[in-house]
Amino acid sequence: MGESANTKRNLIIVSNRLPVSVRRVDGAFQSSLSSGGLVTALSGLTKSTQFRWFGWPGIEVKDPEERAEVVESLEKHRATPIFLDSHLAHEHYNGFSNRILWPILHYTSGILYDDGPWQAYKRVNELFADAIAEAAESGTLIWVHDYHLMLLPELLRKQLQMQGKGCAIGFSLHTPFPAGDFWRNLPVRKHLIEGLLSSDLIGFHTDEYKHNFIDTCASLLGAQTQIPNQIQYKNRLVCTDKFIVGIDPQKFTDTLRRPEVQERIKSLKERYKGMKVIVGIDRLDHIKGLTQKLKGFDYFLDDHPELRTKVVLIQVAVPSREDVKEYQDLETELCTIAGKINGKHATPEGTPLLYMHRSVSFTELTALYSVADACLLTSTRDGMNLVSFEYVACQEQNHGVLVLSEFAGAAAFMRDGSIPFHPANTSEMSEALFAALNLGDEERKEKFESLWNFVATNTRETLAQMRSTWGLLLKLAK
Ligand code: ADP
Ligand code: G6P
Repeated sequence: MGESANTKRNLIIVSNRLPVSVRRVDGAFQSSLSSGGLVTALSGLTKSTQFRWFGWPGIEVKDPEERAEVVESLEKHRATPIFLDSHLAHEHYNGFSNRILWPILHYTSGILYDDGPWQAYKRVNELFADAIAEAAESGTLIWVHDYHLMLLPELLRKQLQMQGKGCAIGFSLHTPFPAGDFWRNLPVRKHLIEGLLSSDLIGFHTDEYKHNFIDTCASLLGAQTQIPNQIQYKNRLVCTDKFIVGIDPQKFTDTLRRPEVQERIKSLKERYKGMKVIVGIDRLDHIKGLTQKLKGFDYFLDDHPELRTKVVLIQVAVPSREDVKEYQDLETELCTIAGKINGKHATPEGTPLLYMHRSVSFTELTALYSVADACLLTSTRDGMNLVSFEYVACQEQNHGVLVLSEFAGAAAFMRDGSIPFHPANTSEMSEALFAALNLGDEERKEKFESLWNFVATNTRETLAQMRSTWGLLLKLAK
């Protein structure tokens, strides 16, 4: 199917978080770019496409006049806000999505459940279904994203049918989908996968996540899964596929060329002259293995005390989900460990660890990626991890080395070009880091080239795959 046919169709993208979040500053509304892999991946994909984005604006707005103001301010981003009252949004986002569902999807909790947050999760999915069904026309492609909205395909399908609208629904999960036996820990496990099975197409980042989902549908619901990549359930045929999301590498290469970024790179290189720089950029989240990373770095410094003044780890921990107690506790724990590491390894020349609990600007981010001899990513589980792609995009000159946990989704594609390790094995991490910092020029170049080929090609292929997926969705909608 050609692109012209696609663009004639309406495309609605739905995610819990809009690509821009709205804040109230001194009584006025301001919008800022949201962070996280989903927004990055979709902004790369949607550059060339006409679409409208529906999602929660990240703020409670009650007054109708103020709501109109927010709607207007988001219009330039082709974004339509779905307003939620703050208690409901809190229970849906923090209570169920991030405290209960997220840990299950990432294998980090046992049986955890609370009925209040579950009811809020259902209610928010209903409110999204109402708003989107009303806005959609027959023939619209509706593409729903991520774990906050797993009930939406089913609710939406019902609403659209009642209104006599024929639309295709795609769903993309940006987290892992765990093995069936782990998913069983969640008491509402069946509701959520039934919710998804009203989609026409369900996308996952890796084959492993896709297979886990298909196996779970068979074992929990008795769905028919004999035909590869298809699930037959309640007289519907649902397709599944692997979508390797990517970044827009050119955005990084263009930014690196800007004079102010070149200035910043020069001054960072001057500051760390004669030293090896390791960078880590992660949302402050348990799944990023930050505790393990700091402990691994401590082990590395114990192993190589002569490197205390020769190596620096610049770790940016981007604040995330700060209303959730487990995230607050993690922050406290990381501060303590960071303090201990510097207490133990600091010298009058300086400290080997720079732990920053704050967000950095995009230009600072690219400068940091660019000057780093290695990027250390220690995810204990991670849907993909786009930071690994971004580091590669900024290393055309230096051929820095990616030290990548085998549990990041990205490791399924970047294993050969990186140095893989198990994040809970501190000695293995330390060895991987040491190897990365001592790799010869030829080997670094070879590794970099294989990663660069993947990062650059993947973006093109993802776009092509997205177009053919829309073609498939269109056929399924008929
Ligand atoms: P996750 O989706 O779990 O957050 P990813 O590594 O896939 O992890 O994606 C994180 C994304 O957030 C990256 O694209 C990264 O550049 C982006 N990011 C990191 N720090 C910031 C920041 N300060 N502002 C905006 N985006 C950021
Ligand atoms: C991951 C999730 C996204 C989420 C992002 C940032 O990438 O898959 O859905 O948007 O993390 O998390 P936040 O809670 O800030 O939206």
